[in-house]
Amino acid sequence: MKKLDFFATTMTGIEDIAAHEVKELLGCKVTPDIGKVFYKSSLDSVYILNVAARTLNKVMLNLCRSRFRDLDDIYRLSRGIDYSWLIDPDQSFAVRSERVGSHDFTSIDVSRVVGQAVIDSYLETSRVRLKVNLDSPDVEIYCLVRGDEFLMGVNLTGESLHKRGYRIYEHPAAIKPTLAAAMLFLSGWKGRGRLIDPMCGGATIPIEAAYIARNIAPNKSRRNYNFLKLKIFSCSEFMRSREQILKKEETRKPEVYGMEKYRFHLEGGMRNAEEAGVSGDIRFKLGDATVASDYPEECFDFFVVNPPYGIRMTPKRIKLERLYELFLSAVKEVSDNSILVLITAAKRKFRKALEKVDLEVLSYREVLYGHLNTTIFKCRT
Ligand SMILES: C[S@@+](CC[C@H](N)C(=O)[O-])C[C@H]1O[C@@H](n2cnc3c(N)ncnc32)[C@H](O)[C@@H]1O
Repeated sequence: MKKLDFFATTMTGIEDIAAHEVKELLGCKVTPDIGKVFYKSSLDSVYILNVAARTLNKVMLNLCRSRFRDLDDIYRLSRGIDYSWLIDPDQSFAVRSERVGSHDFTSIDVSRVVGQAVIDSYLETSRVRLKVNLDSPDVEIYCLVRGDEFLMGVNLTGESLHKRGYRIYEHPAAIKPTLAAAMLFLSGWKGRGRLIDPMCGGATIPIEAAYIARNIAPNKSRRNYNFLKLKIFSCSEFMRSREQILKKEETRKPEVYGMEKYRFHLEGGMRNAEEAGVSGDIRFKLGDATVASDYPEECFDFFVVNPPYGIRMTPKRIKLERLYELFLSAVKEVSDNSILVLITAAKRKFRKALEKVDLEVLSYREVLYGHLNTTIFKCRT
C-alpha cells in the first residue's frame, strides 16, 4: 500500500510519549516536533490512530512543510499542490490557520492566501471553482506558521480526539484525557499492579487507566470523523479496521482505584466511569488523600494524580504547599518503592514539599496545558 506523509497534533511537552505510542500502534518511524509528531504510513493508519490513539488530538495528512519568507511564498507553496485527488468538485472547504512568532501578517491573512491558492490550483486541474464554507466545510485545511516554517495539512479527525464522549459529569478542573493517558504511560502503567488516583475528581485518570489495562480503544464509539468525507478513504475499510481493534479488548479486571474528598465529585466520577463502560473496573472511595488511614488497605504500585494547583480547587483554610506536604507524607506512609506521577502548575511549592518529605524525583517535564505552564513529576516513594 502506498505510503503518505502524515502528522498528528498533541500537547507541547508530551511529544515523545505520543511518538512512542504512534510507533507502537503503526510500527513505523515517528519523529516528534513541537506539539506534533511526523510519520509516513498507509491510509489505514488513519483508521487505527483515530480509534486507538490515547495521546493524540488530531491526525492530519501532510500536504506541505517548508521554509518561507513572506505571504507570496506561502501562496506559491500552497498553489503548487494538486487538491483534485482529495477534494470532489462539489465539496466545500475551509482553511484554518495558526501563527506562532512575529510576522507582519496575521493568521487570517494566511487562511485568505492559502484559500485563494487552493481555488486557483483546483481551477487549473479540474476547471471548477471550489466553494468555501467556513462553518461546516467538507474538507478542513490546517495551516501552521511557526517562525519561518510553513506547515499545511488536511484535518482528517475533525473535533479533537481528547473529547472522548464519556464526560457526562463536567468536573470544574478536569484534566484532558490525552494528558491523563500520557501521565499513565509515563508512570509505566500497563494494566498490571495496583493504581490509585487519590484526588480523582471526575475520574479521568482512573477511566484512562482502566482503558489502558483492558486495551479499550478510547474512541471506540465515535462515528464522526472528517476523513469519512474524503474520497480516498473507505467507510467499509474503516469499519473493518475498527472491528479488528475492538477485538483486542480484554475482559480481565484491573486494579484501579479512585479516591476523592468531596462526595459530589466522587459521584460525578462514578457516573463518568459508568458512561465510559468501566465502572466495574474502578473501585471508588470517599476519602482524604492527606490522611493515610483513609487510603484503601491495599498496597499501591502506582499513584497518578492531578491535585489542586490553584485557588479554585484547593480546600479552604489550607495552603497549597501544606496540602502537597501532607499528601506526600500520606503517600510515603501507605506505599513502599512505588511510582508517583503528579501534574502541577505550582512547581516551586511542590518542590518545597518534596524536599520536606524527602522523596526521590526520577524525572520531570514541562507541559503547556492551554496557556498554563505545568510540570509533570515522576517520583519514587
Ligand atoms: C484538579 S482536580 C482533579 C480533576 C480530575 N483529574 C478530573 O479529571 O476530573 C483535584 C481534585 O482533588 C480533590 N481534592 C482536594 N483535596 C483533596 C484531598 N485532601 N483528598 C482528596 N481529594 C482532594 C478536589 O475536590 C478535586 O476534585
